[in-house]
Amino acid sequence: MEAKQGQDVRIVALMNQKGGVGKTTTTVNLGAALAELGQRVLIVDLDPQAHATLHLGVDAREGPGSIYDLLAAPDSRVPGIVRPTLREGLFVLPAETDLAAAESELGALPDKQQRLTRVLENLRGEFDTVLLDCPPSLGLLTINALSAAGEVLIPMQAHFLALQGVGKLLETVRLVSTRLNPGLRVAGVVVCMYDSQTTHAQEVVEDLRRFFESQADQAAPWSGGRVFEPPIRRNIKLAECPSYGQTIFEYAPQAPGAADYRELGRQFAGCRPPRKASGAREGAGLESGTPADPPVVESPAQAGVRVA
Ligand SMILES: Nc1ncnc2c1ncn2[C@@H]1O[C@H](COP(=O)(O)OP(=O)(O)O)[C@@H](O)[C@H]1O
Ligand SMILES: [Mg+2]
Repeated sequence: MEAKQGQDVRIVALMNQKGGVGKTTTTVNLGAALAELGQRVLIVDLDPQAHATLHLGVDAREGPGSIYDLLAAPDSRVPGIVRPTLREGLFVLPAETDLAAAESELGALPDKQQRLTRVLENLRGEFDTVLLDCPPSLGLLTINALSAAGEVLIPMQAHFLALQGVGKLLETVRLVSTRLNPGLRVAGVVVCMYDSQTTHAQEVVEDLRRFFESQADQAAPWSGGRVFEPPIRRNIKLAECPSYGQTIFEYAPQAPGAADYRELGRQFAGCRPPRKASGAREGAGLESGTPADPPVVESPAQAGVRVA
């Protein structure tokens, strides 16, 4: 693959511990939109359900291996493990169900939280953007994603309970940023399955906007985060295209879902949160910033984060 030495790859964890909120749909279609803008994009499927892999029309079992093999042996170079998709510039590091075992198997390793970081270091120079499709939990795979990423993007639905989940999620991001990855920033929230007819959805989006605005000059990882525009409207074509192994841009290029993800791609490509001065990985001195509290704070211990 063409080397892009010297260029800074953008690694983004798409994360929400809730399932069914639009993580995979956003990973795949944002990835496709960025590829359409000329970027080389890698999607890493970190969910044992392998939905992103299937959505992209790839079957990991037909290839030389999957993300599981690389997490087990990060320095092994398996030719062909990164698979092309129908879309030029869009690649996937696929998952299959054996990834479910990784949570417990990695748990025994001393660098269990940084296996993915090593995997991606070995792909350095090959991609402009790497999107990490996280499983719906805050377990070890998600912690690996947060350790490897520079940014977190939170897909969510606009209802009241979703806001509470965001509090827990931000608390996990803060913990990982303090202990493992001081440069980690929250790019913001993408509202998925948006129904503009309901005032409730509008209110939730407004609440989120106000939250990020109120945090703008704090020292939290989510300071500088935003609610991305446009919200992704509920669109049946987005729900149909995974069964065809296609992104929305192949399946229904004129659909509202394609328009929304294309515009999200432009917005996302055009912004990059300022990097925190990167300190020691051990996180010395990072707690001095007194970051403001996220909307709801639950015990980070509940987030399955165990840091050495
Ligand atoms: N904007 C949308 N309009 C309609 N259906 C959607 C939309 N976004 C996602 N879906 C559907 O909702 C379900 C959950 O989305 P998915 O991206 O798989 O969530 P997650 O990865 O968070 O579990 C899937 O069936 C998906 O096709
Ligand atoms: Mg998913």
